[in-house]
Amino acid sequence: MDIRIFASNPLLNTAAAGLIAHLLQAKPNAVLGLATGGTPVGIYEELIKLYTLQHIQFREAISFNLDEYVGLPETHDQSYHAYMQQHLFKHIDLPQSNIHIPNGNATDLEAECARYDALLDGVKQIDLQILGLGHNGHIGFNEPDEGLVGGTHLVELKEETRLANARYFNNLAEVPTHAITMGIGTILKARTILLVVRGTDKAKIVHDALTGPITTENPASLLQTHPNLVVMLDTEAGELFS
Ligand code: GLP
Repeated sequence: MDIRIFASNPLLNTAAAGLIAHLLQAKPNAVLGLATGGTPVGIYEELIKLYTLQHIQFREAISFNLDEYVGLPETHDQSYHAYMQQHLFKHIDLPQSNIHIPNGNATDLEAECARYDALLDGVKQIDLQILGLGHNGHIGFNEPDEGLVGGTHLVELKEETRLANARYFNNLAEVPTHAITMGIGTILKARTILLVVRGTDKAKIVHDALTGPITTENPASLLQTHPNLVVMLDTEAGELFS
């Protein structure tokens, strides 16, 4: 495990975008696993800069997003479809046909999960999976539980997750109760995982995840088993590592 702590968020963003840029330069048709939430926004901004400067291109790349809310129209500004367009896709040359995000409005959600897994099977392996971290240790929307699921599946969001994400909505009632998420098995199959965590409010959960017992009650703790995990923390999130 490679844990890097950055003195500032701009430095972290540059380093994370640099890792992704190196991959794309070496392998233009790389498969990228993408995350949403506040954490990756600054990294996507750096990637857009690198693209604008013509240091990288996405023409041949393929993307798979981790998750999507159930029942939120794709046009809603908090849907992960809209988020990805706003923060990354509309600024770069990644072909629409190479973009994959679960459809949280499918009439048959089980079939949608199977469809997503079949697409993932088609690319065999994600080259680089970006992950943020939930306050309860969730990755994607894999919530703490007695057991975890390997493949893409429907989840009921924990109340604490809905409360945490309510900051992006007008009120708690607007936050969807369910989501589709890529499973832990798929995440762990990625060649490289880049876990990014920011802020003092996540210092304990990330420290527990990376140094504590491996338990499904802290899904991110399973990342300890990954052979190629890069962790990027700002000073606040990294305050318990020293
Ligand atoms: C959300 C997403 C996760 C994200 C996490 C943290 O619920 N499903 O992929 O990593 O919560 O979000 P944020 O970066 O906004 O704190």
